[in-house]
Amino acid sequence: MAAVMGSTLTEPIKIRVDRKVFPAVGERDEQLVLSNVAFEVEPRSFLVLTGPSGCGKSTLLNIVAGLDTDYEGAIDLGPGKDRMTYIFQSPRLLPWRTVYDNILLALPDGDPRVANIPAMLARVGLTEAANAYPERLSLGMQRRASLARGFILEPDILLMDEPFVSLDDPTAQSLRQLLIELWNSHPTTVIFVTHDRAEAVQLGTRILRLAPGRASVVQDARVRLTPAERLDRAVVLAEQTRIFAAA
Ligand SMILES: Nc1ncnc2c1ncn2[C@@H]1O[C@H](COP(=O)(O)OP(=O)(O)OP(=O)(O)O)[C@@H](O)[C@H]1O
Ligand SMILES: [Mg+2]
Repeated sequence: MAAVMGSTLTEPIKIRVDRKVFPAVGERDEQLVLSNVAFEVEPRSFLVLTGPSGCGKSTLLNIVAGLDTDYEGAIDLGPGKDRMTYIFQSPRLLPWRTVYDNILLALPDGDPRVANIPAMLARVGLTEAANAYPERLSLGMQRRASLARGFILEPDILLMDEPFVSLDDPTAQSLRQLLIELWNSHPTTVIFVTHDRAEAVQLGTRILRLAPGRASVVQDARVRLTPAERLDRAVVLAEQTRIFAAA
């Protein structure tokens, strides 16, 4: 990024979900998905929510994002609440707009950060594709565009739900590396959802693990890796073994 501004964020995000239930539908009983989940997210930390499919990760992220308000509890996003970006699993680019315009449209009219778009496109390796429409891009390229669109806003809070699933391993790895670089140059408060433990360890500074049937946080672990170590598979694997040894 050409001009990276420091984040003004100083307060932790406070998350408390006393109870989240999905009502009974047809044959299916009412389902308690989250119960007594309470934690704070330190400013500029990279928190990963992990756990197997169906344990409630997306439900929790949607509550944090304000997309789901049907729960008991309270979310306090602090001063970063107006500068929050959600990057979904599907890149959600506007199909009738070019890559450049998709990023441009994320910014308010007349925003000076328009000047940062070319550098951001270069950063994510999409300079050549700036004038292409999303349907002409591979999924990996669309995900790069989606990351660029998220980071151009220099958000204080960045929420991501499995943004790298269904990619081949080298592509996913290059996107994780890109995310590590982008986050190091603009250390925003991140909550990242993944079921992939290696990905959780590689990216996160802290990992909260949810377990199906428990409806709650069953593990809260710090990740002790430097940015350089995060790019070393063997070191990441060793840290993964340390963190999840008892899991
Ligand atoms: N809108 C909904 N209505 C009813 N039940 C739902 C709804 N959304 C999710 N659930 C149920 O709540 C539970 C948690 O779902 P959630 O999508 O949060 O899981 P997840 O951890 O994100 O899983 P995955 O890794 O597969 O994305 C699941 O049992 C799911 O079936
Ligand atoms: Mg999910």
